[in-house]
Amino acid sequence: MRDLSKNAALVARARQVVPGAMWGHQDAAALPPGYPQYFSRAEGCHLWDLDGNRYTDFMCSWGPIILGHRHPAVEDAARAQAEKGDCLNGPGEVMVELAELVVQTIAHADWVQFKKNGNDATTAAVMIARAGTGRRKILVAAGSYHGSAPWCSPSVLGVTAEDRAHILTFAYNDTESLAGAAEQAKGDLAGIIVTAFKHDLGVDQEMPEPEFAMLAREICDAEEAALIVDDVRAGFRLHEAGSWELVGVRPDLSSWSKAISNGYALAALTGNDRFRQAASAVFSTGSFWTAAVAMAAGLVTIRTLREADAVAQMARLGTKLRDGLEGLSRAYGLPISQTGPVQMPTAMFVDDPDRTKGFAFCAAAIAQGVYFHPTHNMFLSAAHTEQDIAHALDAAEHGFRTVRDLSARAAA
Ligand SMILES: Cc1ncc(COP(=O)(O)O)c(C=O)c1O
Repeated sequence: MRDLSKNAALVARARQVVPGAMWGHQDAAALPPGYPQYFSRAEGCHLWDLDGNRYTDFMCSWGPIILGHRHPAVEDAARAQAEKGDCLNGPGEVMVELAELVVQTIAHADWVQFKKNGNDATTAAVMIARAGTGRRKILVAAGSYHGSAPWCSPSVLGVTAEDRAHILTFAYNDTESLAGAAEQAKGDLAGIIVTAFKHDLGVDQEMPEPEFAMLAREICDAEEAALIVDDVRAGFRLHEAGSWELVGVRPDLSSWSKAISNGYALAALTGNDRFRQAASAVFSTGSFWTAAVAMAAGLVTIRTLREADAVAQMARLGTKLRDGLEGLSRAYGLPISQTGPVQMPTAMFVDDPDRTKGFAFCAAAIAQGVYFHPTHNMFLSAAHTEQDIAHALDAAEHGFRTVRDLSARAAA
């Protein structure tokens, strides 16, 4: 294992002043041995921890980094804006420029509002759906993540039954289940919120079935409810105009964040004209929602993504990674399940109920300087190169060898 002594000392310091030392999904204590909690810098698709260890990054900050860490054009734009001012009494011209670009880029969008986190955008989408329809019920796929607000947090700690009183669930990609939930909500259906693909934690991922997506659209049309696609995680990685362009279905509202400004704090809610009035009437705001630096970064990020055809580039290298992992899995006789889009790969051992294999695999890979995730979808960026994929496959081979040895010892 690499030296993580500075990291360990900082975790101990944090424990005194931060409850549990870290909150939420970025808590490295939930990861295999050898994963650092703290990082000191990053460049392209590489990052360095506090102890100076370098990693080839397959989490991309859990999604935001799409062009690579510290992309020069994005950094220049952010720096130039920072020199003029960031958090003023109101937005700068950059907000309108960015709004124009978003509306031009996202197929279903007639308007956009900016926010900070994905959670701001999904929560505002639900409020606007309710305000625009005058109804209360929201259909949510069981197990889908839409943020940590009381209406959608995966934990019920601190949440009351009343917070969820008008949330009904259905199973992703299951048309019967969706139709059943819609029937239950009949007469009071405000909207259906659905992630771009099924990217739930620790399970095989699923792309949306066209019949499922079409049924969601039909129900919303028939009931005059809002179809909300939550593109916070997948946005700009599957299709630059919105992920459900892949299934030919356009939502009424979509939430965005993560990759929109290559690591700067920005979220967006896009909508069509049906919900324009409700969007302007609902009170939804935040102290930092007009900050200009992230918007300047967003403008360059979206332009660069489009010019560089980043989706195709990530798909090409994602396919190499998937094919390479498949080849190694066969060579070592250790079946893995690779699901989800290749730009956001999920790879898990097939027979691994307690995650022993997945954790051993990732621990071996991180010791070689490759940052994989054992149970969450990973992320490629436009900064990954053939060389980075070769390094990843080399580290993966160490992983497969470790798991093979572990299984052999267990069988002996
Ligand atoms: C699909 C989806 N929606 C919403 C969110 C919440 O975004 P944030 O963590 O920026 O509040 C996330 C975060 O991972 C997400 O993946």
